[in-house]
Amino acid sequence: MPDLHADVAVLAPLLGTWTGRGSGDYPTIDSFDYTEEITFGHVGKPFLSYSQRTKSVDDGRPLHAETGYLRVPSPGHVEWILAHPTGITEILEGTLTVVDGALVMELAATVIGRSASAKDVSALGRSFRLLGDTLTYTVRMGAVGQPLQHHLSATLHRKPS
Ligand code: HEM
Repeated sequence: MPDLHADVAVLAPLLGTWTGRGSGDYPTIDSFDYTEEITFGHVGKPFLSYSQRTKSVDDGRPLHAETGYLRVPSPGHVEWILAHPTGITEILEGTLTVVDGALVMELAATVIGRSASAKDVSALGRSFRLLGDTLTYTVRMGAVGQPLQHHLSATLHRKPS
């Protein structure tokens, strides 16, 4: 395994696989509960790779999945590049801080790409907090004519290797 690139050394606590559970809602849909697995990896270059998949708690059917890359172009600044199987791409930018020992990222979409068949997603925001072996996040979304508001929240724990 190559050494972690110095630019993303601050993200080292994310490396590995995380599993947990979340819930989602939106004014236009039924609320739902999901299980989630997230993996962060690296190849020694100035980014972390990221992949996520979710399943319904009700019946185990696959729900959302996403994949991408995390970059830290300057200290305290983070970029997250994401692709979704729903025809959407998402570029988030924001801040990376350490607050009371927790790694905190506050991100907002600067670019949202939509294929011709994708749903109308107009705004996205994500908050991440990592403390020890616990990762929590929330996702806010503006979509299908609705203003930016809560879509997801989840708590994951580091999967023992
Ligand atoms: C943990 C990740 C996520 C899960 C488990 C999840 C789950 C769901 C579910 C179950 C629905 C309702 C049924 C459906 O339309 O499939 C839904 C709707 C939707 N989600 Fe998510 N979602 C996730 C992340 C996202 C993200 C990141 C985006 C945007 C990039 C997004 C955009 C939407 C949109 C646009 C709808 C449709 C709303 C409507 O048509 O009224 N979701 N999501």
